[in-house]
Amino acid sequence: MSETTAAGAPAVPKARSCPFLPPDGLAGIREEAPVTRATFTSGQEAWLVTGYEQVRAVLRDPSFSVNVPHALHTQDGLVTQKPGRGSLLWQDAPEHTDDRRLLAKEFTVRRMQALRPNIQRIVDEHLDAIEAQGGPVDFVKAFANPVPSMVISDLFGVPVERREEFQDIAEAMMRVDQDVAATEAAGMRLGGLLYQLVQERKANPGDDLISALITTEDPGGVIDDMFLMNAAGTLLIAAHDTTACMIGLGTALLLDRPDQLALLREDPSLVGNAVEELLRYLTIGQFGSERVATQDVEFSGVRIAKGEQVVTHVLAADFDPAFVEDPERFDITRRPAPHLAFGFGAHQCIGQQLARIELQIVFGTLFKRFPTLRLAKPVEELRFRDDMVFYGVHELPVTW
Ligand code: HEM
Repeated sequence: MSETTAAGAPAVPKARSCPFLPPDGLAGIREEAPVTRATFTSGQEAWLVTGYEQVRAVLRDPSFSVNVPHALHTQDGLVTQKPGRGSLLWQDAPEHTDDRRLLAKEFTVRRMQALRPNIQRIVDEHLDAIEAQGGPVDFVKAFANPVPSMVISDLFGVPVERREEFQDIAEAMMRVDQDVAATEAAGMRLGGLLYQLVQERKANPGDDLISALITTEDPGGVIDDMFLMNAAGTLLIAAHDTTACMIGLGTALLLDRPDQLALLREDPSLVGNAVEELLRYLTIGQFGSERVATQDVEFSGVRIAKGEQVVTHVLAADFDPAFVEDPERFDITRRPAPHLAFGFGAHQCIGQQLARIELQIVFGTLFKRFPTLRLAKPVEELRFRDDMVFYGVHELPVTW
Protein backbone atom coordinates (compact mmCIF):
# COMPACT_ATOMS: atom_id res chain seq x y z
CA MET A 1 0.00 0.00 0.00
CA SER A 2 1.47 3.32 -1.00
CA GLU A 3 -0.45 6.23 0.45
CA THR A 4 -1.04 6.62 4.19
CA THR A 5 -3.72 9.03 5.33
CA ALA A 6 -3.80 11.28 8.37
CA ALA A 7 -6.21 8.83 9.98
CA GLY A 8 -3.51 6.18 9.87
CA ALA A 9 -4.92 3.35 7.82
CA PRO A 10 -3.60 3.18 4.25
CA ALA A 11 -5.88 4.27 1.41
CA VAL A 12 -7.59 1.58 -0.67
CA PRO A 13 -5.75 1.49 -4.01
CA LYS A 14 -7.78 2.64 -7.02
CA ALA A 15 -5.25 3.47 -9.76
CA ARG A 16 -4.71 0.78 -12.40
CA SER A 17 -1.56 0.66 -14.51
CA CYS A 18 -3.25 -1.95 -16.73
CA PRO A 19 -6.90 -1.04 -17.29
CA PHE A 20 -7.89 -4.72 -17.45
CA LEU A 21 -6.28 -5.66 -14.15
CA PRO A 22 -7.24 -4.75 -10.56
CA PRO A 23 -5.77 -1.57 -9.04
CA ASP A 24 -2.04 -1.68 -8.32
CA GLY A 25 -1.21 -2.69 -4.79
CA LEU A 26 -4.37 -4.68 -4.05
CA ALA A 27 -2.59 -8.03 -4.41
CA GLY A 28 0.08 -6.89 -1.94
CA ILE A 29 -2.57 -5.98 0.62
CA ARG A 30 -4.29 -9.35 0.22
CA GLU A 31 -1.00 -11.21 0.64
CA GLU A 32 -0.07 -9.21 3.72
CA ALA A 33 -3.47 -9.23 5.43
CA PRO A 34 -6.65 -10.47 3.72
CA VAL A 35 -8.65 -8.62 6.40
CA THR A 36 -7.23 -5.23 7.37
CA ARG A 37 -8.07 -1.63 8.20
CA ALA A 38 -8.09 0.83 5.29
CA THR A 39 -9.21 4.37 4.47
CA PHE A 40 -11.89 4.65 1.79
CA THR A 41 -12.95 7.36 -0.70
CA SER A 42 -15.27 8.94 1.88
CA GLY A 43 -12.23 9.51 4.11
CA GLN A 44 -13.55 7.01 6.63
CA GLU A 45 -11.70 4.02 7.96
CA ALA A 46 -13.23 0.57 7.84
CA TRP A 47 -12.34 -3.10 7.36
CA LEU A 48 -11.13 -4.14 3.91
CA VAL A 49 -11.54 -7.84 3.06
CA THR A 50 -9.59 -9.01 0.01
CA GLY A 51 -9.07 -12.79 0.41
CA TYR A 52 -11.41 -15.12 -1.52
CA GLU A 53 -12.32 -17.28 1.48
CA GLN A 54 -12.61 -14.27 3.78
CA VAL A 55 -14.93 -12.42 1.36
CA ARG A 56 -17.17 -15.49 1.14
CA ALA A 57 -17.15 -15.86 4.92
CA VAL A 58 -18.43 -12.28 5.42
CA LEU A 59 -21.02 -12.47 2.66
CA ARG A 60 -22.59 -15.65 4.03
CA ASP A 61 -22.55 -14.53 7.68
CA PRO A 62 -25.91 -13.08 8.83
CA SER A 63 -24.05 -11.04 11.49
CA PHE A 64 -23.20 -8.64 8.64
CA SER A 65 -26.03 -6.36 7.56
CA VAL A 66 -26.48 -4.42 4.31
CA ASN A 67 -27.88 -1.52 6.32
CA VAL A 68 -24.64 0.51 6.34
CA PRO A 69 -24.56 3.96 7.99
CA HIS A 70 -22.00 5.43 5.51
CA ALA A 71 -21.32 4.93 1.82
CA LEU A 72 -17.57 4.35 1.91
CA HIS A 73 -17.02 4.49 -1.85
CA THR A 74 -18.51 7.97 -2.37
CA GLN A 75 -16.85 11.28 -1.55
CA ASP A 76 -19.53 12.58 0.80
CA GLY A 77 -20.13 9.23 2.51
CA LEU A 78 -23.86 9.91 2.53
CA VAL A 79 -26.30 7.06 2.08
CA THR A 80 -29.26 7.93 -0.13
CA GLN A 81 -32.71 7.23 1.22
CA LYS A 82 -33.12 3.47 1.39
CA PRO A 83 -36.08 1.89 -0.34
CA GLY A 84 -38.09 -0.62 1.71
CA ARG A 85 -39.92 -3.91 1.02
CA GLY A 86 -39.08 -5.57 -2.30
CA SER A 87 -35.80 -3.72 -2.80
CA LEU A 88 -33.59 -6.71 -1.78
CA LEU A 89 -30.21 -4.97 -1.94
CA TRP A 90 -31.12 -2.78 1.03
CA GLN A 91 -32.88 -5.47 3.11
CA ASP A 92 -31.74 -7.95 5.77
CA ALA A 93 -33.36 -11.21 6.88
CA PRO A 94 -36.09 -12.05 7.67
CA GLU A 95 -37.78 -9.53 5.27
CA HIS A 96 -35.06 -10.02 2.67
CA THR A 97 -35.56 -13.80 2.70
CA ASP A 98 -39.34 -13.48 2.29
CA ASP A 99 -39.21 -10.82 -0.42
CA ARG A 100 -36.44 -12.55 -2.35
CA ARG A 101 -38.50 -15.76 -2.36
CA LEU A 102 -41.47 -13.90 -3.88
CA LEU A 103 -39.29 -12.42 -6.61
CA ALA A 104 -37.26 -15.57 -7.28
CA LYS A 105 -40.52 -17.45 -7.88
CA GLU A 106 -41.10 -15.30 -10.97
CA PHE A 107 -37.42 -15.01 -11.89
CA THR A 108 -37.07 -18.62 -12.98
CA VAL A 109 -34.53 -20.27 -15.26
CA ARG A 110 -37.46 -21.20 -17.50
CA ARG A 111 -38.62 -17.59 -17.83
CA MET A 112 -35.06 -16.46 -18.51
CA GLN A 113 -34.43 -19.19 -21.12
CA ALA A 114 -37.69 -18.22 -22.84
CA LEU A 115 -36.15 -14.78 -23.42
CA ARG A 116 -33.37 -16.22 -25.61
CA PRO A 117 -35.05 -15.70 -29.03
CA ASN A 118 -36.00 -12.17 -28.08
CA ILE A 119 -32.48 -11.36 -26.89
CA GLN A 120 -31.02 -12.80 -30.11
CA ARG A 121 -33.41 -10.61 -32.11
CA ILE A 122 -32.42 -7.48 -30.14
CA VAL A 123 -28.71 -8.30 -30.62
CA ASP A 124 -29.14 -8.97 -34.36
CA GLU A 125 -31.12 -5.77 -34.91
CA HIS A 126 -28.47 -3.65 -33.20
CA LEU A 127 -25.69 -5.31 -35.18
CA ASP A 128 -27.65 -4.69 -38.41
CA ALA A 129 -27.89 -1.02 -37.49
CA ILE A 130 -24.14 -0.85 -36.80
CA GLU A 131 -23.38 -2.44 -40.16
CA ALA A 132 -25.71 -0.03 -41.94
CA GLN A 133 -24.11 2.93 -40.20
CA GLY A 134 -20.56 1.88 -41.16
CA GLY A 135 -17.43 2.14 -39.00
CA PRO A 136 -16.04 3.56 -36.91
CA VAL A 137 -18.87 3.50 -34.35
CA ASP A 138 -18.98 3.93 -30.61
CA PHE A 139 -19.86 0.39 -29.55
CA VAL A 140 -21.01 1.51 -26.08
CA LYS A 141 -23.56 3.94 -27.49
CA ALA A 142 -24.64 1.79 -30.43
CA PHE A 143 -24.76 -1.58 -28.67
CA ALA A 144 -23.52 -2.14 -25.09
CA ASN A 145 -25.93 0.39 -23.53
CA PRO A 146 -29.11 -0.10 -25.56
CA VAL A 147 -29.09 -3.94 -25.70
CA PRO A 148 -29.44 -4.69 -21.94
CA SER A 149 -31.80 -1.77 -21.60
CA MET A 150 -34.07 -3.24 -24.31
CA VAL A 151 -33.88 -6.72 -22.75
CA ILE A 152 -34.91 -5.62 -19.26
CA SER A 153 -37.45 -3.14 -20.61
CA ASP A 154 -39.04 -5.99 -22.57
CA LEU A 155 -39.02 -8.22 -19.50
CA PHE A 156 -40.84 -5.50 -17.53
CA GLY A 157 -43.01 -4.17 -20.32
CA VAL A 158 -41.50 -0.63 -20.30
CA PRO A 159 -43.15 1.19 -23.23
CA VAL A 160 -40.81 1.91 -26.14
CA GLU A 161 -41.18 5.68 -25.88
CA ARG A 162 -39.89 5.71 -22.28
CA ARG A 163 -36.87 3.48 -22.74
CA GLU A 164 -34.39 6.23 -23.52
CA GLU A 165 -35.45 8.17 -20.43
CA PHE A 166 -34.99 5.06 -18.33
CA GLN A 167 -31.50 4.51 -19.71
CA ASP A 168 -30.56 8.09 -18.76
CA ILE A 169 -31.84 7.63 -15.22
CA ALA A 170 -30.07 4.31 -14.78
CA GLU A 171 -26.78 5.91 -15.69
CA ALA A 172 -27.33 8.98 -13.50
CA MET A 173 -27.98 6.77 -10.48
CA MET A 174 -24.69 4.93 -10.86
CA ARG A 175 -22.35 7.93 -10.84
CA VAL A 176 -20.15 8.32 -7.79
CA ASP A 177 -18.58 11.66 -8.82
CA GLN A 178 -21.71 13.69 -8.02
CA ASP A 179 -23.35 14.89 -4.84
CA VAL A 180 -26.10 13.00 -3.12
CA ALA A 181 -28.75 15.50 -4.34
CA ALA A 182 -28.09 14.53 -7.97
CA THR A 183 -28.41 10.83 -7.15
CA GLU A 184 -31.63 11.55 -5.26
CA ALA A 185 -33.00 13.57 -8.18
CA ALA A 186 -32.35 10.60 -10.49
CA GLY A 187 -34.07 8.37 -7.91
CA MET A 188 -37.14 10.63 -7.95
CA ARG A 189 -37.34 10.48 -11.74
CA LEU A 190 -37.07 6.70 -11.58
CA GLY A 191 -39.82 6.61 -8.93
CA GLY A 192 -42.15 8.56 -11.22
CA LEU A 193 -41.47 6.30 -14.16
CA LEU A 194 -41.97 3.14 -12.09
CA TYR A 195 -45.20 4.42 -10.53
CA GLN A 196 -46.69 4.91 -13.99
CA LEU A 197 -45.45 1.52 -15.09
CA VAL A 198 -47.02 -0.29 -12.12
CA GLN A 199 -50.36 1.52 -12.58
CA GLU A 200 -50.41 0.62 -16.27
CA ARG A 201 -49.66 -3.05 -15.57
CA LYS A 202 -52.37 -3.18 -12.88
CA ALA A 203 -54.93 -1.78 -15.30
CA ASN A 204 -53.64 -3.81 -18.21
CA PRO A 205 -51.70 -6.93 -17.17
CA GLY A 206 -49.43 -8.53 -19.77
CA ASP A 207 -46.98 -11.42 -19.79
CA ASP A 208 -44.19 -9.32 -18.27
CA LEU A 209 -42.52 -9.79 -14.88
CA ILE A 210 -44.32 -6.92 -13.14
CA SER A 211 -47.71 -8.33 -14.15
CA ALA A 212 -46.58 -11.75 -12.89
CA LEU A 213 -45.65 -10.22 -9.51
CA ILE A 214 -49.00 -8.42 -9.29
CA THR A 215 -50.85 -11.71 -9.68
CA THR A 216 -48.47 -14.01 -7.78
CA GLU A 217 -49.60 -15.82 -4.62
CA ASP A 218 -48.71 -13.52 -1.73
CA PRO A 219 -49.76 -15.11 1.58
CA GLY A 220 -48.12 -12.36 3.69
CA GLY A 221 -49.91 -9.62 1.73
CA VAL A 222 -46.70 -7.61 1.22
CA ILE A 223 -46.97 -6.93 -2.50
CA ASP A 224 -48.39 -3.42 -2.69
CA ASP A 225 -47.53 -0.55 -5.06
CA MET A 226 -44.44 0.38 -3.07
CA PHE A 227 -43.16 -3.20 -3.09
CA LEU A 228 -43.62 -3.41 -6.86
CA MET A 229 -41.87 -0.09 -7.46
CA ASN A 230 -38.96 -1.02 -5.20
CA ALA A 231 -38.56 -4.45 -6.78
CA ALA A 232 -38.81 -3.14 -10.34
CA GLY A 233 -36.47 -0.23 -9.54
CA THR A 234 -33.76 -2.48 -8.11
CA LEU A 235 -34.07 -4.98 -10.93
CA LEU A 236 -34.04 -2.38 -13.69
CA ILE A 237 -31.03 -0.53 -12.30
CA ALA A 238 -29.12 -3.67 -11.33
CA ALA A 239 -29.72 -5.28 -14.70
CA HIS A 240 -28.91 -2.40 -16.99
CA ASP A 241 -25.60 -0.84 -16.05
CA THR A 242 -23.93 -4.10 -15.02
CA THR A 243 -24.61 -5.99 -18.23
CA ALA A 244 -23.80 -2.91 -20.36
CA CYS A 245 -20.42 -2.59 -18.66
CA MET A 246 -19.64 -6.26 -19.16
CA ILE A 247 -20.48 -6.03 -22.87
CA GLY A 248 -18.34 -2.91 -23.47
CA LEU A 249 -15.39 -3.92 -21.32
CA GLY A 250 -15.53 -7.58 -22.38
CA THR A 251 -15.43 -6.57 -26.05
CA ALA A 252 -12.47 -4.26 -25.39
CA LEU A 253 -10.58 -7.03 -23.57
CA LEU A 254 -11.23 -9.65 -26.27
CA LEU A 255 -10.13 -7.22 -28.99
CA ASP A 256 -6.99 -6.50 -26.98
CA ARG A 257 -6.18 -10.25 -26.69
CA PRO A 258 -6.28 -11.62 -30.27
CA ASP A 259 -4.98 -15.06 -29.18
CA GLN A 260 -8.00 -15.58 -26.91
CA LEU A 261 -10.40 -14.16 -29.48
CA ALA A 262 -8.97 -16.57 -32.09
CA LEU A 263 -9.72 -19.48 -29.73
CA LEU A 264 -13.32 -18.34 -29.42
CA ARG A 265 -13.66 -17.90 -33.19
CA GLU A 266 -12.24 -21.36 -33.86
CA ASP A 267 -14.45 -23.05 -31.29
CA PRO A 268 -17.72 -21.19 -30.64
CA SER A 269 -18.66 -23.81 -28.02
CA LEU A 270 -16.14 -22.04 -25.76
CA VAL A 271 -18.50 -19.10 -25.34
CA GLY A 272 -19.87 -20.27 -21.96
CA ASN A 273 -16.34 -20.63 -20.58
CA ALA A 274 -15.28 -17.32 -22.13
CA VAL A 275 -18.16 -15.51 -20.41
CA GLU A 276 -17.21 -16.98 -16.99
CA GLU A 277 -13.58 -15.95 -17.44
CA LEU A 278 -14.62 -12.46 -18.56
CA LEU A 279 -16.85 -12.15 -15.50
CA ARG A 280 -14.05 -13.24 -13.15
CA TYR A 281 -11.25 -11.28 -14.81
CA LEU A 282 -13.21 -8.04 -15.04
CA THR A 283 -15.29 -8.36 -11.82
CA ILE A 284 -16.90 -5.01 -12.52
CA GLY A 285 -18.25 -4.25 -9.01
CA GLN A 286 -14.93 -2.49 -8.53
CA PHE A 287 -15.49 -1.07 -5.03
CA GLY A 288 -16.89 -4.29 -3.58
CA SER A 289 -19.98 -4.73 -1.40
CA GLU A 290 -20.41 -2.85 1.87
CA ARG A 291 -21.67 -4.45 5.08
CA VAL A 292 -21.85 -3.52 8.78
CA ALA A 293 -21.36 -5.87 11.76
CA THR A 294 -24.53 -6.22 13.87
CA GLN A 295 -22.57 -7.90 16.67
CA ASP A 296 -18.91 -8.43 17.58
CA VAL A 297 -17.36 -10.99 15.24
CA GLU A 298 -14.04 -12.82 15.69
CA PHE A 299 -12.83 -13.40 12.20
CA SER A 300 -9.62 -14.33 10.36
CA GLY A 301 -7.48 -13.31 13.32
CA VAL A 302 -9.19 -9.94 13.87
CA ARG A 303 -12.08 -8.74 15.99
CA ILE A 304 -14.72 -6.73 14.15
CA ALA A 305 -16.80 -4.77 16.64
CA LYS A 306 -20.55 -4.26 16.42
CA GLY A 307 -21.24 -1.19 14.23
CA GLU A 308 -17.98 -1.35 12.29
CA GLN A 309 -18.18 -1.34 8.50
CA VAL A 310 -16.66 -3.93 6.21
CA VAL A 311 -15.97 -3.80 2.47
CA THR A 312 -15.81 -7.17 0.72
CA HIS A 313 -13.54 -6.49 -2.24
CA VAL A 314 -14.84 -9.07 -4.73
CA LEU A 315 -12.40 -7.93 -7.43
CA ALA A 316 -9.39 -8.57 -5.17
CA ALA A 317 -10.92 -11.91 -4.14
CA ASP A 318 -11.35 -13.05 -7.75
CA PHE A 319 -7.58 -12.60 -8.24
CA ASP A 320 -6.66 -14.56 -5.12
CA PRO A 321 -4.15 -17.30 -6.13
CA ALA A 322 -5.65 -19.44 -3.36
CA PHE A 323 -8.79 -19.51 -5.53
CA VAL A 324 -7.47 -19.43 -9.09
CA GLU A 325 -4.07 -20.37 -10.51
CA ASP A 326 -2.09 -17.60 -12.19
CA PRO A 327 -4.96 -15.12 -11.72
CA GLU A 328 -3.59 -12.40 -14.01
CA ARG A 329 -3.61 -14.72 -17.03
CA PHE A 330 -6.78 -14.17 -19.08
CA ASP A 331 -7.61 -17.65 -20.34
CA ILE A 332 -10.99 -18.51 -21.81
CA THR A 333 -10.15 -22.23 -21.73
CA ARG A 334 -9.95 -22.30 -17.92
CA ARG A 335 -12.34 -24.64 -16.20
CA PRO A 336 -15.01 -22.22 -14.85
CA ALA A 337 -14.49 -21.58 -11.14
CA PRO A 338 -17.01 -20.11 -8.66
CA HIS A 339 -15.98 -16.47 -9.05
CA LEU A 340 -17.56 -13.69 -7.00
CA ALA A 341 -18.51 -11.33 -9.84
CA PHE A 342 -22.18 -11.94 -8.93
CA GLY A 343 -21.49 -11.70 -5.19
CA PHE A 344 -22.11 -14.53 -2.76
CA GLY A 345 -24.52 -15.55 0.00
CA ALA A 346 -28.01 -14.22 0.61
CA HIS A 347 -27.66 -11.26 -1.78
CA GLN A 348 -25.98 -13.13 -4.63
CA CYS A 349 -27.21 -11.70 -7.94
CA ILE A 350 -30.77 -12.79 -8.70
CA GLY A 351 -30.29 -11.89 -12.37
CA GLN A 352 -27.14 -13.92 -13.03
CA GLN A 353 -28.94 -16.39 -15.26
CA LEU A 354 -30.23 -13.59 -17.46
CA ALA A 355 -26.83 -11.85 -17.49
CA ARG A 356 -25.11 -15.06 -18.59
CA ILE A 357 -27.64 -15.66 -21.36
CA GLU A 358 -27.23 -12.09 -22.65
CA LEU A 359 -23.44 -12.22 -22.58
CA GLN A 360 -23.31 -15.64 -24.25
CA ILE A 361 -25.58 -14.45 -27.05
CA VAL A 362 -23.63 -11.20 -27.46
CA PHE A 363 -20.14 -12.75 -27.58
CA GLY A 364 -21.39 -15.74 -29.55
CA THR A 365 -22.86 -13.48 -32.26
CA LEU A 366 -20.63 -10.38 -32.40
CA PHE A 367 -17.40 -11.92 -33.70
CA LYS A 368 -19.20 -14.22 -36.13
CA ARG A 369 -21.04 -11.29 -37.57
CA PHE A 370 -17.99 -8.97 -37.64
CA PRO A 371 -14.95 -11.27 -38.03
CA THR A 372 -12.62 -8.32 -38.63
CA LEU A 373 -13.88 -6.19 -35.74
CA ARG A 374 -11.07 -4.12 -34.18
CA LEU A 375 -10.52 -1.14 -31.89
CA ALA A 376 -10.51 2.17 -33.75
CA LYS A 377 -8.42 3.76 -30.97
CA PRO A 378 -5.53 2.30 -28.98
CA VAL A 379 -6.47 0.90 -25.56
CA GLU A 380 -4.30 3.56 -23.88
CA GLU A 381 -6.60 6.27 -25.26
CA LEU A 382 -9.85 4.74 -24.02
CA ARG A 383 -11.60 6.32 -21.03
CA PHE A 384 -12.32 3.75 -18.35
CA ARG A 385 -15.11 4.06 -15.77
CA ASP A 386 -12.96 4.28 -12.65
CA ASP A 387 -15.40 6.91 -11.34
CA MET A 388 -18.47 4.66 -11.46
CA VAL A 389 -19.86 1.94 -9.23
CA PHE A 390 -19.41 -0.55 -12.07
CA TYR A 391 -16.17 -0.54 -14.01
CA GLY A 392 -16.25 -0.39 -17.80
CA VAL A 393 -15.46 1.83 -20.77
CA HIS A 394 -17.12 5.21 -21.30
CA GLU A 395 -16.87 4.72 -25.05
CA LEU A 396 -15.43 2.09 -27.36
CA PRO A 397 -14.73 3.20 -30.94
CA VAL A 398 -14.60 0.11 -33.16
CA THR A 399 -14.34 -0.55 -36.86
CA TRP A 400 -14.14 -3.60 -39.13
C1 HEM B 1 -23.00 -9.03 -15.62
C2 HEM B 1 -24.04 -8.52 -15.04
C3 HEM B 1 -24.26 -8.47 -13.55
C4 HEM B 1 -23.35 -8.39 -12.53
C5 HEM B 1 -21.82 -8.35 -12.62
C6 HEM B 1 -24.11 -8.33 -11.29
C7 HEM B 1 -23.53 -8.28 -10.02
C8 HEM B 1 -24.25 -8.35 -8.84
C9 HEM B 1 -23.65 -8.42 -7.51
C10 HEM B 1 -22.16 -8.40 -7.21
C11 HEM B 1 -24.67 -8.48 -6.60
C12 HEM B 1 -24.54 -8.61 -5.07
C13 HEM B 1 -24.47 -7.27 -4.37
C14 HEM B 1 -24.19 -7.40 -2.88
O1 HEM B 1 -23.93 -8.47 -2.35
O2 HEM B 1 -24.20 -6.34 -2.21
C15 HEM B 1 -25.90 -8.44 -7.34
C16 HEM B 1 -27.16 -8.45 -6.78
C17 HEM B 1 -28.31 -8.27 -7.51
N1 HEM B 1 -28.45 -8.28 -8.89
FE1 HEM B 1 -26.96 -8.44 -10.25
N2 HEM B 1 -25.44 -8.37 -11.59
C18 HEM B 1 -25.57 -8.47 -12.95
C19 HEM B 1 -26.75 -8.55 -13.67
C20 HEM B 1 -28.01 -8.50 -13.12
C21 HEM B 1 -29.25 -8.61 -13.86
C22 HEM B 1 -29.35 -8.85 -15.35
C23 HEM B 1 -30.26 -8.46 -12.94
C24 HEM B 1 -31.75 -8.50 -13.12
C25 HEM B 1 -32.36 -8.88 -14.16
C26 HEM B 1 -29.65 -8.27 -11.63
C27 HEM B 1 -30.34 -8.09 -10.46
C28 HEM B 1 -29.77 -8.12 -9.20
C29 HEM B 1 -30.54 -7.98 -7.97
C30 HEM B 1 -32.03 -7.75 -7.84
C31 HEM B 1 -29.63 -8.09 -6.91
C32 HEM B 1 -29.93 -8.01 -5.41
C33 HEM B 1 -30.15 -9.38 -4.86
C34 HEM B 1 -30.37 -9.38 -3.36
O3 HEM B 1 -29.99 -8.41 -2.69
O4 HEM B 1 -30.94 -10.36 -2.86
N3 HEM B 1 -28.29 -8.30 -11.78
N4 HEM B 1 -25.63 -8.37 -8.70
